[in-house]
Amino acid sequence: MAATEPIDILKLGIGDAEAGLVLSAEAGWNQNVADWRYFLSHGVVYGVRDRDRLVATAALLPYSAGNAWISMVLVTADFRRRGIATRLIDACLGAAVQRNLTTWLDATPAGATVYGPLGFTPTLELRRLRLLQPNGAEAPQACSGSVDALITRDTGAIGFERNSLLSEFAARADSRIVSNRRAVALVRSGRTARHIGPILADGTDEALVLVNAIIHAESGPWLIDAVHSRSEFLDGLVGSGWNIERPFQRMRFGRQTTSPTQLPFAVAGPEFG
Ligand SMILES: CC(C)(COP(=O)(O)OP(=O)(O)OC[C@H]1O[C@@H](n2cnc3c(N)ncnc32)[C@H](O)[C@@H]1OP(=O)(O)O)[C@@H](O)C(=O)NCCC(=O)NCCS
Repeated sequence: MAATEPIDILKLGIGDAEAGLVLSAEAGWNQNVADWRYFLSHGVVYGVRDRDRLVATAALLPYSAGNAWISMVLVTADFRRRGIATRLIDACLGAAVQRNLTTWLDATPAGATVYGPLGFTPTLELRRLRLLQPNGAEAPQACSGSVDALITRDTGAIGFERNSLLSEFAARADSRIVSNRRAVALVRSGRTARHIGPILADGTDEALVLVNAIIHAESGPWLIDAVHSRSEFLDGLVGSGWNIERPFQRMRFGRQTTSPTQLPFAVAGPEFG
C-alpha cells in the first residue's frame, strides 16, 4: 500500500488474533492471544491490511449502561503518520454513535495526540508500574477471592458492570482472584508479565498488603496500572521497588454516563479500562 493509496478499513474476525498479537508485540505491549480473542469475539475490531499483512487495528468493546472502551489502536511503524489511526478511531466512533455509546479509552502519550483533536476529553490519569522481583520481607498469604465479589466491587469503581470481561479473565487457567480483608484483586497472565488489576480496597494499607501477598506467592515480572490520584498507594509501590514506566490519560467521548462510588487503586488495564 503506497502512502497515497486510499485506506481500506476492514472488520476483523477471530482468525485475526495471531496477526493482532504481532502488532501489539511490536509496540512492546503485554496483551496475549486470549486478550485478542476477547476483543475479536466480544467487540468490533477494525483493521487495515497491506496485501496479506495486518498493519493497523482499533477495537470498540461495548460494556453496559451505554459505555464502551476503545483500545488496541496500533499502526505498524512504517505505516504511521498517514492518518490510519484517525480513520480507525473514526470507524470505532461511528459504530459507537450508531449504538448510542459513550466511549472511553486510556491513551498513551502518542495516542493522546491523535484523540485530543477528535474531541476526546481527559478524565483521570494512570501510571503503569513494573516490578521484576519482590525485594521486601515475606508477606502473609492472601485468600482466594470470588468472581462475584470482584464484579460487585468493580461495578462500584467503574460505574457500570462488566461481568462478561471479569468472568472470562477469572476463567483463564493462569488467572487468580485474591482477597485480603476488604481488598480484592485480579491477577492474570500477559505476553511478558503478570498483570495485577483491578485492585479494589477500602484503604491504601490493605491494597499494598494485597499486592505484597501476590508478588510473594508467584513469579513475576508484574505490571500494575495505578490510579494516579491514589498517591499514597503509588508512593508505597515505588518505595518497595516498583518502577513507574509511563503515564496513561483516561479520556471520554460523549456524554457523562457513570457515577462511580469509589475509585479503584488500579484498573484492569489500559486496553480494558
Ligand atoms: C499512536 C499511533 C496509533 C498513531 O497512528 P498514526 O496512524 O500514525 O496516526 P495518524 O496518522 O492518524 O495521526 C493523526 C495525528 O496525530 C498526531 N500524531 C500521531 N502520531 C504522532 C507522534 N508520534 N508525535 C506527534 N504527533 C502525532 C499528529 O497530529 C497526526 O497528524 P499529522 O500526521 O497530520 O501531523 C501509532 O503511532 C502507534 O501505533 N503507536 C504505538 C502504539 C500506541 O501508542 N497506540 C496508541 C494507544 S492509546
